[in-house]
Amino acid sequence: MGSHGEDVKGRVCVTGASGYLASWLIKRLLISGYHVIGTVRDPGNEKKVSHLWRLEGAKERLSLVRANLMEPGSFDTVVMGCEGVFHTASPVIKPTSDPKAEIIKPAVDGTLNVLRSCKKNPNLRRVVLTSSSSTTRIRDDIDPKVPVDESFWSSIELCEKLQLWYSLSKTLAEKAAWEFCNENPIDLVTVLPAFLIGPSLPPDLCSTASDVLGLLKGDTKDFKWHGRMGYVHIDDVALAHILVYEHEKAKGRYLLSSTVMDNNELVGFLLARYPSLPIPKGFEVLNRAQYDFDTSKIEGLGMKFKSMEEMFDDCVASLVDQGYLPSVYL
Ligand SMILES: NC(=O)c1ccc[n+]([C@@H]2O[C@H](COP(=O)([O-])OP(=O)(O)OC[C@H]3O[C@@H](n4cnc5c(N)ncnc54)[C@H](OP(=O)(O)O)[C@@H]3O)[C@@H](O)[C@H]2O)c1
Repeated sequence: MGSHGEDVKGRVCVTGASGYLASWLIKRLLISGYHVIGTVRDPGNEKKVSHLWRLEGAKERLSLVRANLMEPGSFDTVVMGCEGVFHTASPVIKPTSDPKAEIIKPAVDGTLNVLRSCKKNPNLRRVVLTSSSSTTRIRDDIDPKVPVDESFWSSIELCEKLQLWYSLSKTLAEKAAWEFCNENPIDLVTVLPAFLIGPSLPPDLCSTASDVLGLLKGDTKDFKWHGRMGYVHIDDVALAHILVYEHEKAKGRYLLSSTVMDNNELVGFLLARYPSLPIPKGFEVLNRAQYDFDTSKIEGLGMKFKSMEEMFDDCVASLVDQGYLPSVYL
């Protein structure tokens, strides 16, 4: 029995194990009783992996192995021993001088590299790919009266025109994954999370968690382009990965979002809830499409999303705990 009383479950692989989301997913998988093999680029990098070894059940049921998205065959051995693969690894970095090499190639080629390894394992039950809600909403024909759902795809041309390299990388990677799995016998399910909010298990904040810290400290730089954005608790996203992996009827794509807000609504909410934090008073209003997400598909599998209050309370508490915000803000 697992430490929470659950039966010990099968062996699954999580790519990019040391990341913000992957760490939380591993925490939830271990609690559920799974054996987890996490892939990291450098298992010897204590600073990046030590938080994983402190997770409940890690000593008994976690192993970490080296793999790199850009090395063909790098995932063959690790995937061979697993019933499930959660592919979360993908560059989540700011615009670079060479976005094709640094963001798009690792996302697309890396996803196909992992799927080629999956194809070699006849015992693989399902692959869950972490995509993004940004693969749906970047279009110039959004009708504010029609919520965005899983049938929407972002426009490649618009992503290129607006130089939204991360969104482009996720859209191309998910499309490539579907194409590959339609031609090969792999049971693929994709999850499309909105912007993740919540505690960071890695001590060094990832790109998006740093942006949130910046906003809470009064910086408008990283959020000003968001305009309108969906928000979702990191724990819900981890639980949704496991839900779609385990649920027999899970199929296709699943949007994950609790609440969609404009930047000005977001700072209004944050100012009211955390009056002592130096939250920016407002943002320049951008001429962006008004949209909402229709998340009824994942809710149909039993998912209930945590509120904005819960996600930001947990986030602020953890930032204080990790010393990123002074404790006067609790
Ligand atoms: N954060 C969000 O708001 C958000 C929203 C929707 C979807 N997502 C998706 O969630 C997933 C995880 O993102 P995150 O927010 O947790 O970011 P993160 O902490 O930066 O995690 C990204 C992971 O990808 C790994 N990676 C990048 N390039 C790699 C390569 N060439 N080979 C092997 N591993 C590589 C990184 O490994 P290193 O640690 O070695 O760099 C890291 O573990 C991504 O697929 C992202 O697109 C995130």
